[in-house]
Amino acid sequence: INCGVIVVAAGRGERAGSHPDGPKQYRRIAGRPVISHTLEAFVKWDPACRIVAVIHRDDRDLFDTALDHLEGGRDRILAVTGGRTRQQSVLAGLEALSSLDVDHVLIQDAVRPFVDTVLLDRIAATLASGECAVLPAVAVADTLKRSDSAGHVLETVPRTGLFAAQTPQAFHFATIRDAHRRAAEDGRDDFTDDAAIAEWAGVPVRLVEGSAANVKLTLQKDLIMADERLSAPLP
Ligand code: C5P
Repeated sequence: INCGVIVVAAGRGERAGSHPDGPKQYRRIAGRPVISHTLEAFVKWDPACRIVAVIHRDDRDLFDTALDHLEGGRDRILAVTGGRTRQQSVLAGLEALSSLDVDHVLIQDAVRPFVDTVLLDRIAATLASGECAVLPAVAVADTLKRSDSAGHVLETVPRTGLFAAQTPQAFHFATIRDAHRRAAEDGRDDFTDDAAIAEWAGVPVRLVEGSAANVKLTLQKDLIMADERLSAPLP
């Protein structure tokens, strides 16, 4: 499939706390910035795909340093400036890809560095089968509770049929670009993932099995665990 990739990396990463290395996508795991692991996964997966990295305007130097850690593929990566919300950052990436004539797009959070070729192949095969929107997800394993604001349980939520959404989420390019444009025109800027915009636009979204390893690094402890995992892999 002829596909482009958008890696969104314009967030400030406040939940992980402040750090001299910058926002969490530039923090080092196994000696390299998180985002360079993420970009490398796509560069290695498809030697032809074009990649748009959406970054914050203050992070240009951090991003250039991250590119220095890539083994190859630097010439295929275009950096553009993101927006105030994730949704706005994705739209900036989609507009940048518009001129590159791609049929499909994979949209990835920079803070998921453990995305792997097996998962990417599964997503691409589902797109190739004719689906317009593909969402990797894992079934929820924990028992779920809803609580009140004081921290008391109100109820147990049945977990049957509930999934945790991952990235990359993959789409027919013009379909998701047009849905994003319409959402922005409608003044919506609160969608936290792209599948939700497809759902809002009435596009059927196909679930595929995600990967348990493909975690999102959100908190300080996630970064520490990721560093330990890469630095001392299990035998
Ligand atoms: O904030 P959250 O953890 O949902 O961010 C997910 C991804 O979206 C991160 O890689 C982050 O850098 C990116 N993002 C962005 N622009 C924003 C907010 C988040 O590119 N304004």
